[in-house]
Amino acid sequence: MIVLALETSCDESSAAILRYANKKFTVLANCVASQIELHKITGGVVPEVAAREHVKNILPVVEAAFAEAKIKPEKIDRIAVTTGPGLITSLMVGVQVAQVLAGVWKKPLFSVNHLSGHLAANFLLNKKITYPALGLIVSGGHTELVLMKKIGAYKVIGSTRDDAAGECFDKTAKILGLAYPGGPEISRLAVAAKNPVWFPRPMLDSPDLDFSFSGLKTAVLYYKQNNKAIFLPNVCAGIEQAIADVLIAKTKRAAEKYQVKTLLLAGGVAANPELRRQFLQAAKSLIPKTSCLIPDLKYCTDQAAMIGAAGALLKKPTPLHKVLVDPNWEL
Ligand code: KG4
Ligand code: ZN
Repeated sequence: MIVLALETSCDESSAAILRYANKKFTVLANCVASQIELHKITGGVVPEVAAREHVKNILPVVEAAFAEAKIKPEKIDRIAVTTGPGLITSLMVGVQVAQVLAGVWKKPLFSVNHLSGHLAANFLLNKKITYPALGLIVSGGHTELVLMKKIGAYKVIGSTRDDAAGECFDKTAKILGLAYPGGPEISRLAVAAKNPVWFPRPMLDSPDLDFSFSGLKTAVLYYKQNNKAIFLPNVCAGIEQAIADVLIAKTKRAAEKYQVKTLLLAGGVAANPELRRQFLQAAKSLIPKTSCLIPDLKYCTDQAAMIGAAGALLKKPTPLHKVLVDPNWEL
C-alpha cells in the first residue's frame, strides 16, 4: 500500500509518501517546511501567521514529496491527514488540501489523530510491539501516558493538569532569554553544566499518573529574579533533569501498575537526549524487563511520515464531506 500523508496541525507543513507492505514501513519521502524562523521573531506561534504559511507551503511540500519518492499520484492507495488536535486554522489548510486531492484523484481519505500519529512514529522502526504497551507522549501541547491494548485501542491514563512538558521547556527558555523553541536550546546548553541547579519535581510523589509543570516554570522565574549572575548551563540542566525525573517516575509507576510489555516514547520532547537515555534505562530497570521503542530523531517533532504510519493502519476511510477538523480531539 502507498500512502500520501499531510500534517499541518501547528507550525510545520509536511507531506510524506510511505510504502506499507508485509507489515513493514518504508518512508519514500518526508518533506517538511518549518516555520520556526518566523515564529522566533514573536517568541512563539501566532496561529494566524502559521495558517497563512501553511497555505503558502503545503502544495510545494506535496510536490516535493512526489518528486523525492519518484511516484505518480495514480500509485497512491490512500491519503491520510491530521484532523486534530491542533490549531484550528492550521489544521484546516491540510484538511482542505487532502479533501481536494482525495476528491480529484478518487482516493480514500483517512482522518488521523495527531497524537496517535506521534505514537505511530515508533511503527516506522518496524520493530515488534508486545501489548499491553505504554506510550509516553511529550509534545508542545500534550503530556500523556497512554495505555495501548492493541493498535488503535488507546486509553489515556495520565496527563498534565496545566502546562505540557514541551511548553515548560519553551516557557522556561523564554524566561532565560533563549530562542523559540526552547526545548532544543535548553538541551544544547545543558551539556555544558557543571553543577545543575535543583528545581522542584512537581507531583513526583503523588499516587496518580498525572503531571504538573507550571510550578517548575515559576521556580525558574524566581531563580532568575533572585540571582544576578546565573550560569545558564547549570539552570538548563536543572530544568531538563526535573522534567525528565517526573516523566520517568510516572512512566515507571504506570508500567508497573498495568504490567506493560513495551514502552514507547513519542512527541517533540522525545528528541531530548537526556530523556531518551533515561527512558531506555527505565525500561531496563523494570521487572520483568520491558522492550523499549524511541523514534528516530527526525520522527520526533512534527512531520507527516508519522501521520502516514497511523493512517496506513486505519481500517475505515471517512466519507469526504465528513472529514472535519477537531482542534480538541482527544485520543
Ligand atoms: O511534537 P512537537 O513537534 O509539536 C507539538 O505537537 O506540540 O513538539 C514540539 C515541542 C516543543 O515544545 C519543543 O521545545 C520540544 O518539542 N522539543 C524539545 C527538544 N526538541 C523539541 N524539548 C526538549 N529537548 C529537545 N531536544
Ligand atoms: Zn506534535
